[in-house]
Amino acid sequence: MSLFIWDESFSVHVSMFDQQHKHLINLVNELHNAMKKGSVKEVLEPLLNDLVRYTQEHFAEEERLMQETHYPGYLAHKQAHATFVDKVTEFQSHYKESKTKLSLDVMEFLVEWVKNHIKTVDHGYGPYLNERGIR
Ligand code: FEO
Repeated sequence: MSLFIWDESFSVHVSMFDQQHKHLINLVNELHNAMKKGSVKEVLEPLLNDLVRYTQEHFAEEERLMQETHYPGYLAHKQAHATFVDKVTEFQSHYKESKTKLSLDVMEFLVEWVKNHIKTVDHGYGPYLNERGIR
């Protein structure tokens, strides 16, 4: 069973970013499913690495477009990304060093952050970019 499913309420009305968000959600689900199956660290760690890497790539794409279009919420949005990346990379390195476990709490944090970020912060740029012909 998937942890969460992308639906229209997640749409930011910019197709490239909707596709990226769908992929991001799939990665979160994949990691969560592997964790529920009790997969070993050798399986979980690459999944976690994929999730962190893809998240950073996605953030960079959004930031590039927001900056290029002089989106007024750019700096606050970039800061939200940086805070999340700091938290997740810290967790990632602790996990690699076996100082922590991949717990349901961590998964819930990831899921809630992704959901809230897309539905609030990301939704802010949709109309702005649409008005500039970006869909
Ligand atoms: Fe889709 Fe701002 O991350």
